[in-house]
Amino acid sequence: MRVSVIRPPTGRGKSKKMPAPRILVVDDDKNALIGLVRLLEGEGYEASGAISAYEALALLDNQGFDVALVDLKLPGMGGLSLVDEIKKRDELLPILVVSAYSSVENVVAAVKKGAEHFFTKPIDFEELKVTIDRVWKQRKSLQEAEELRGKVEGEFGTTEMIGDTPEMQKVIKTIRDIAPSTATVLIYGETGVGKELVARAIRSYSPRRNKPFVVLHCAALAEGVLESELFGHEKGSFTGALYTRRGRFELAHEGTLFLDEVSEMGPSVQVKLLRVTETGTFERVGGEETRQVDVRLVAATNKDLEGLVAVGKFREDLYYRLNVIKLAIPPLRERKADIPLLANYFLLKYTSRNNKEIRGFTPEAMHLLQEYHWPGNVRELENTVERAVVFCKKNMIEPDYLSPNLLEKGKKPELIQIRLGMPMKDVEREVIQKTLELTHGNKTEAARILGLSARTIDNKLKEWKPHGTPGIKSIEQESNI
Ligand SMILES: Nc1ncnc2c1ncn2[C@@H]1O[C@H](COP(=O)(O)OP(=O)(O)OP(=O)(O)O)[C@@H](O)[C@H]1O
Ligand SMILES: [Mg+2]
Repeated sequence: MRVSVIRPPTGRGKSKKMPAPRILVVDDDKNALIGLVRLLEGEGYEASGAISAYEALALLDNQGFDVALVDLKLPGMGGLSLVDEIKKRDELLPILVVSAYSSVENVVAAVKKGAEHFFTKPIDFEELKVTIDRVWKQRKSLQEAEELRGKVEGEFGTTEMIGDTPEMQKVIKTIRDIAPSTATVLIYGETGVGKELVARAIRSYSPRRNKPFVVLHCAALAEGVLESELFGHEKGSFTGALYTRRGRFELAHEGTLFLDEVSEMGPSVQVKLLRVTETGTFERVGGEETRQVDVRLVAATNKDLEGLVAVGKFREDLYYRLNVIKLAIPPLRERKADIPLLANYFLLKYTSRNNKEIRGFTPEAMHLLQEYHWPGNVRELENTVERAVVFCKKNMIEPDYLSPNLLEKGKKPELIQIRLGMPMKDVEREVIQKTLELTHGNKTEAARILGLSARTIDNKLKEWKPHGTPGIKSIEQESNI
């Protein structure tokens, strides 16, 4: 396992300013060419003009472009041949083609050769801008995927930690800082956020990297079983203890023990754990011999451990022993700029596992991934990408391949206002009205999201406002659309 931070070539995320896309415009009509280049420059693009295919290729050989806009009717080497030549030089460069007459054959031929879009003259400039932005974003995401491919190919046997946001950089820096010591670490974070991955990273940066890394998930086990799992037991110490067994502490000797969901430990195990953290000693269940181990403890929780201490559910002294170093991993929705990087990383992982050729995500699909609130964090993102790869029949992941759950939840408003003591009927009204806002007044859709019948929603609306709510159609009206 190794930790690596993979930096994308250009800025991503809203906070970083993106460079202007560089457009190559090819048209043999000099006046039209100059006009278009000026218009594009006026809109903040970096535009260069070429009056022939040869000039265009010379420019392409000397400088980089993000989008090419090619007139199909060119003297000498025609536009269709130019499309071929461009693709040979830069397979990922989006090409938009233009023709004075929109003959179907031209459209078909150009698209077959890989053109992204076809314009007829005179070009609708608004449509051109929207198209340039769309294909440019697509190119960027493909380039990122390519770059990532180069860096991580062949490394899937190891576990990478991907993260480029300041939040993740901070986590990675803390890991490096604390790894060399033997101090106990308490990792906080929501489910699926990467707590176990971080624990493994701490181990691999520590001098104990070649010693055991032992994991125990505390939540899944009853108290008696947990105790014996941790400390081992002697033969005959309880019904079913047919053999003497070493516990995780002994197995982790000289290495690292990762205790996941540590908040779920019962009181008697907490006492025993406290003792190991203080003295390094314990006895096996049913045993008398005191054993000493040298274990670095890393614990994780997705609960508010301080809150549990406050209500007497977790021992305060143990909390302080575990919380020597606190490492909080922010939820994915608070580091959204990492989403494209992670999504492309998982795309590579699962395309290679499934033997599929998928080049990237469409900008619309990536937008949905970035807008979703990811309650299951990185694990949910990984599962979403794996599912999309399995179902995808094209060479790009489109929104349709993302789970319906994501498409729907991605649109949900983040919060609704519910005050303590608020009457139930007001809570109901708030929920229904906010859902209707979300569905732009479509009651059938709102009913589906809420698991109610559209009739119920209709009745509620009538109850609240005898004459209906402006902008919301009755079901009868709706079903006529
Ligand atoms: N930064 C990251 N880079 C790459 N993969 C990640 C990252 N964070 C998490 N993952 C992957 O996401 C999945 C969930 O991570 P992990 O099991 O570490 O989460 P967790 O916080 O321990 O979850 P839980 O609370 O459910 O135990 C794993 O497959 C892990 O490899
Ligand atoms: Mg875990």
